[in-house]
Amino acid sequence: MLTSAAEMLVRARDGHYAVAQININNLEWTKSVLEVAQELKSPVILGVSEGAGKYMGGFKVVADMVKALDESLGITVPVCLHLDHGSYEGSKKCIEAGFTSVMFDGSHFPIDENVAKTTELVGIAKARGISVEAEVGSIGGEEDGVVGAGEIASPEECAKIAALGIDFLAAGIGNIHGVYPENWKGLDFNTLELIHKATNNIPLVLHGGTGIPEDMIKKAIGLGVSKINVNTECQLVFAAATRKYIEDGLDKKGKGFDPRKLLAPGVAAIKATVKEKFELFGSVGRA
Ligand code: 13P
Repeated sequence: MLTSAAEMLVRARDGHYAVAQININNLEWTKSVLEVAQELKSPVILGVSEGAGKYMGGFKVVADMVKALDESLGITVPVCLHLDHGSYEGSKKCIEAGFTSVMFDGSHFPIDENVAKTTELVGIAKARGISVEAEVGSIGGEEDGVVGAGEIASPEECAKIAALGIDFLAAGIGNIHGVYPENWKGLDFNTLELIHKATNNIPLVLHGGTGIPEDMIKKAIGLGVSKINVNTECQLVFAAATRKYIEDGLDKKGKGFDPRKLLAPGVAAIKATVKEKFELFGSVGRA
């Protein structure tokens, strides 16, 4: 059942769990995530970066594929189709294409410009029942060409953006996209607490979910985090399982070259990872 993320995340915040945003890249990814969500009765957010949208043939292709899969797989749990780290133009295109939620990442703009652009997009999205995520203090690392310096967000700026009518807020607290370096200092919980207090209980978003230790995930949920994004981890387990299949020579046995067989171990690996995340974030049985 396709829906915006607004209600999903208010419920998560009030129920003290987080909904996973799992980024998708193709049909296999999408089908895997939807099937696990249905099996575990968990709400889920499908994240699509602008790069992934382009790869799949455009935002319209993605929206139509997700809608068709949702329908033909008989998915009854709440599913949100969300643009991840969208540009101003990209956000407008996704609203047109049929996404149910967009993230406008204006974190690299001066705060006044971030406020102005976020305000305009909120107006357009809200008129169509589409939820909006905004960002303050860029997330470190690189994702599909979007590079962030890893700033710690200012609670005052978070309060300004949170008051614009957005549905949930991403704030940099030392989190990084991709694999965390050995010398990573961990999440800045003092800042998270200040942001939580300054933003009127708005659901908060934790990007860079790959590799954050379990105790930090649980503590973050306790401090208002209601959505956690995971991308790299699914890519890593998919690649490792596919590598093993080929290194074991299975693509050369019988019809092992058939893409439905070749991609099966990767699909199973994604499903296992998504299941783990739903369990860790506490969203199982919440749909
Ligand atoms: P990871 O790739 O580190 O899991 O981060 C995903 C993310 O934050 C998507 O916006």
